[in-house]
Amino acid sequence: KPRLFSGMQPSADSLQLGNYIGALLQWKELQSTHDAIFCVVDLHAITVPQDPVQLRAATRRTAAQYIAAGIDPAQSILFVQSQVAAHPQLAWMLNTITGFGEASRMIQFKEKSQKQGADGTNVGLFTYPVLQAADILLYDAEIVPVGEDQRQHIELTRDLANRFNTRFGHTFVEPEAVIQKETAKVYDLQAPTNKMSKSASSTAGVVWMLDEPAVTAKKIMSAATDSGREVRFDSVEKPGISNLLTIYAVLSGRTIADIEREYDGHGYGDFKKGLAEVTVDTFSPIRARTLELLDDPAELDRILAGNADRAAGIADATLARAYDRMGFLARA
Ligand code: TYM
Repeated sequence: KPRLFSGMQPSADSLQLGNYIGALLQWKELQSTHDAIFCVVDLHAITVPQDPVQLRAATRRTAAQYIAAGIDPAQSILFVQSQVAAHPQLAWMLNTITGFGEASRMIQFKEKSQKQGADGTNVGLFTYPVLQAADILLYDAEIVPVGEDQRQHIELTRDLANRFNTRFGHTFVEPEAVIQKETAKVYDLQAPTNKMSKSASSTAGVVWMLDEPAVTAKKIMSAATDSGREVRFDSVEKPGISNLLTIYAVLSGRTIADIEREYDGHGYGDFKKGLAEVTVDTFSPIRARTLELLDDPAELDRILAGNADRAAGIADATLARAYDRMGFLARA
């Protein structure tokens, strides 16, 4: 089976709908046909200030949501990045073959450093994509399913793999990004030209997977819509409705055309009510299961520890190969 790797940052309160549609849903589908490895990337999370107590809680919550959403930690590997030491070790090596200008061109770095302001940025934020490359290369991943915003980082990963292989001999597999076109980007419900994101300035347009059902329904009912009253997909003229149609189609497994037909002649209200129902039906069981898993943190930690051992078994072998190629003296 081809090897798959992907990851997500731990999120304090909950993952959001964009993470579910852009990543988790694909992960769940691909895990049966791939040798899949999923990571909660807590080392990446500390590139912005974190409260230690919250970070630990967020890491567990995120892992619980992976499982609740259908990632099977007995079949796939589901682990926490900081529990496998090879990640920062390989990242250090890759830092030394990454150009300063190359790293400066990363869009996410530019956006995040602007947001933090000159004083708030740190070197970790700058080398963030290099750590991401290490994550992927340690596992000889062939495919990396992500949302559109990660494309550039996977390109960098390919470049670094290729560069290392050229200089030091074949060591790494060059991975490919897998980005589902229709679901590459879920937009904010209140500002449907912005990506839905946990760091949005207002969370009124962000649907959290762990929101109470009534809150989810309310957010969808008050989503910004467009002029006109027709439920029709047109991302230029009707970005709000088009975003809702995409979400509806993905969560219900129906086609957009089919949904347009159902609401032909109905107003936006009926359409939103239908979507609210579908969304609540999707997330209610996931929410219940997540809370159940979080009720027994010791059991969850035990699952994660076992999975970290499995991950380390693969990562340590790759790291040893890279150490050898780079010319580090083996410990006798
Ligand atoms: P992160 O934590 O920001 O997001 C996790 C995944 O969710 C996708 N995503 C979206 N997809 C569609 N619409 C949206 N509105 C939306 N918001 C988020 C992201 O594209 C991503 O797939 N750097 C990565 C984490 C990472 C990683 C890795 C990913 C670290 N190492 C190795 C893959 C492989 C990140 O910050 O994702």
